[in-house]
Amino acid sequence: MLLALVQARSLLVLGVVSLFFSQILALSVPTPRHIDGQTPFLPPQGERKHRSGVLPPLRNTVGWVDPRLNGGQFLDYTTDTLGEPLNIIISSESDPDILTESGMQTYIKSIGFSRECLGLHYGHIHDADLGDGLGRKPEQFLGRQHYFPIIGTCWESIRGGHHFRAWRQNGTEANSGAWFLGASQEMDSSKNHMIVDDGYNRGRNYIVERATAGSHWRGMWWKAEVEWRDGLLESGNQGVNHGIEQDGLVAILTVHRL
Ligand SMILES: *[C@@H]1O[C@H](CO)[C@@H](O)[C@H](O)[C@H]1NC(C)=O
Repeated sequence: MLLALVQARSLLVLGVVSLFFSQILALSVPTPRHIDGQTPFLPPQGERKHRSGVLPPLRNTVGWVDPRLNGGQFLDYTTDTLGEPLNIIISSESDPDILTESGMQTYIKSIGFSRECLGLHYGHIHDADLGDGLGRKPEQFLGRQHYFPIIGTCWESIRGGHHFRAWRQNGTEANSGAWFLGASQEMDSSKNHMIVDDGYNRGRNYIVERATAGSHWRGMWWKAEVEWRDGLLESGNQGVNHGIEQDGLVAILTVHRL
């Protein structure tokens, strides 16, 4: 009887302990990734950037230039104080064709995007500073996921889906020719183009998956290599439009023509 009671008690203790650990595990899943594995709390401003993975600007990167070397940043300017992550770079080591605007328009069709619906731009234009001497410049390109040929992007405009904004790093002070993309997944337009939960990471991953799987359009074939970079963009939602958390990783794509 006593033994049974002791056993029941230890089972209970075991249950409580394992519940406790499973809660810790469950809680640790959605928290933003940090370079040192610390759970987020808000340390003093000076320390925060380092803790969340932002490292000093990089030099001698091949195929692109770190915008932070010359006053730029990896958040665009949606407003003066909030921005969306520039979470993909298409390096200038890529197929030279896709570094041009018309070549880029062709390439994005191969990964399921096209230029905005009938060339109509609705909504807000974002600026970005790529540190190329041009300061904040308006987006040069907006690609939307298409579901149907021809009217495809019109459909996406109504329904929501994946999209990206693109800027080319081609000012005289950093004339790499690379494309910088801010990718995200949107809700439908009844929600006024809000970004879905985890929409920045999802938008980025969607493009990276398609590009690295290989793609083709009208007899042209491409396949991208990806390098993931930590420390360019602050993880979390500090200064991020809509306050949506993102993991701070930037995908550097080198797209090869096959
Ligand atoms: C930079 O690239 C954009 C996008 O292709 C283009 O519109 C612009 O004219 C280019 N600027 C320079 C200085 O080459």
